[in-house]
Amino acid sequence: MAPIRRSYLPVFTSLMILVMLAILTEQHGTKREGLTLLLRFSARMSFLLFVLWLSLPAVARLSARLPGLLAAEPHLLISFALAHTIHVAVIFYAASQGYFAQITERELLVTGGGGGGAYLMIVLMGLTALRSASRARAILRGVGTIYVWLVFLNSYVSRLREGDSFGGAGIAALFIAAALALAAWRVRRQAPNARTASA
Ligand code: HEM
Repeated sequence: MAPIRRSYLPVFTSLMILVMLAILTEQHGTKREGLTLLLRFSARMSFLLFVLWLSLPAVARLSARLPGLLAAEPHLLISFALAHTIHVAVIFYAASQGYFAQITERELLVTGGGGGGAYLMIVLMGLTALRSASRARAILRGVGTIYVWLVFLNSYVSRLREGDSFGGAGIAALFIAAALALAAWRVRRQAPNARTASA
């Protein structure tokens, strides 16, 4: 069987998420519990892709093998950005069904401001994923990744406080992915020095 082209990854992941959302809607409806399920599922898929984007290319860089995984990095980032766009679409759909009717103005400002800012970063990172490396792109990626990581951490700390053990799993995944990404970043920074030293 011919290998699946990496550039198809965003299309496959988005389609898979949309099909799963359609199945969940069919099974659980669009009343409050159904909408909560859709919101959580779409957020979890986005989270999964964020963690994969941070860790898989990092593992490839650290092992100095698996060049295919390293090359898949921009496609994983675009997949994450599309998955998060689906989460935002579900948020708008839930809002249209009155899901946020009980929310206070302050909560709306905090969630909308913090979450909206993070989404803007995600979109910008996704749109520039295939552009060649530049200082501006490096700054956007650095700031965006840390900001989005913190928003995810905040979400899963809240879930853990509510007694949901999935929050603990989310926090662990975030720290493991960050450790791998940091280790790979250090290897990348040291690589030109190593070449100079051996020359
Ligand atoms: C634009 C504003 C946003 C709004 C209004 C929003 C709203 C929501 C809502 C209502 C839920 C379901 C909460 C529940 O379980 O009852 C949810 C889940 C979640 N959202 Fe969003 N969200 C926003 C943006 C974001 C962003 C930017 C991120 C991350 C970068 C994010 C990550 C999450 C996570 C991790 C969950 C929990 C998933 C789980 O239970 O595993 N959200 N969001």
